[in-house]
Amino acid sequence: MRPYEDSDREGLVALVQPVAALGGAVGFLEVPTADEVEQWRLDLHAELLVALDSGRLVACGALRRPANPVTRRMAEITKVMTHPDARGRGAARAVLLALIDSARADGRELLTLECRGNNHAAQRLYASLGFVVTGRRPDAIAVGDDRFDQVLMHCDLRTGTAGLRRFGSRREGLGSA
Ligand SMILES: CC(C)(COP(=O)(O)OP(=O)(O)OC[C@H]1O[C@@H](n2cnc3c(N)ncnc32)[C@H](O)[C@@H]1OP(=O)(O)O)[C@@H](O)C(=O)NCCC(=O)NCCS
Repeated sequence: MRPYEDSDREGLVALVQPVAALGGAVGFLEVPTADEVEQWRLDLHAELLVALDSGRLVACGALRRPANPVTRRMAEITKVMTHPDARGRGAARAVLLALIDSARADGRELLTLECRGNNHAAQRLYASLGFVVTGRRPDAIAVGDDRFDQVLMHCDLRTGTAGLRRFGSRREGLGSA
């Protein structure tokens, strides 16, 4: 597991194209060209990690860290995928564990992600790592005439509340109204 490097460009294309060809929910409606994969990567604005198996790029995932002062304790996991012929061997779990470690080391307290409602495999993966369902936006994802829920999930990385005043949704604290 390591951060994406420029030399991974072809390997990333060789991962993303077959995932997209199988309809994987990673941001494409059609199989992207190599240039489109590169533009997709540049547009991520996120820390991209890649998992290698005998030198071959078999999985990836990204962590997006908001810079806004009030959301800077959150981070979003996105673009988790494993090559179709490398699935079921723990690659995505390894990517996620590394992303979670990275977020924790950076002082992030709440991890978020979004998932398509019909993607039960991914939801099971995230749940196995401590993510819970925040809520569902009904039939929000459009693929042609098909509609799917957008499932929002989160994982609270806080191990204690020392030093924090946690107001939740109570009508208290700065800005309460
Ligand atoms: C979802 C995906 C990332 C899983 O990758 P993977 O490397 O095969 O996953 P792992 O081997 O690390 O599996 C870890 C856990 O995920 C869950 N899981 C993975 N694939 C599963 C499946 N087909 N059905 C049910 N659970 C599944 C299981 O809990 C599994 O743990 P277990 O093996 O102990 O049961 C992969 O199927 C994929 O790339 N799908 C297309 C892209 C995608 O949907 N990305 C997520 C977008 S939100």
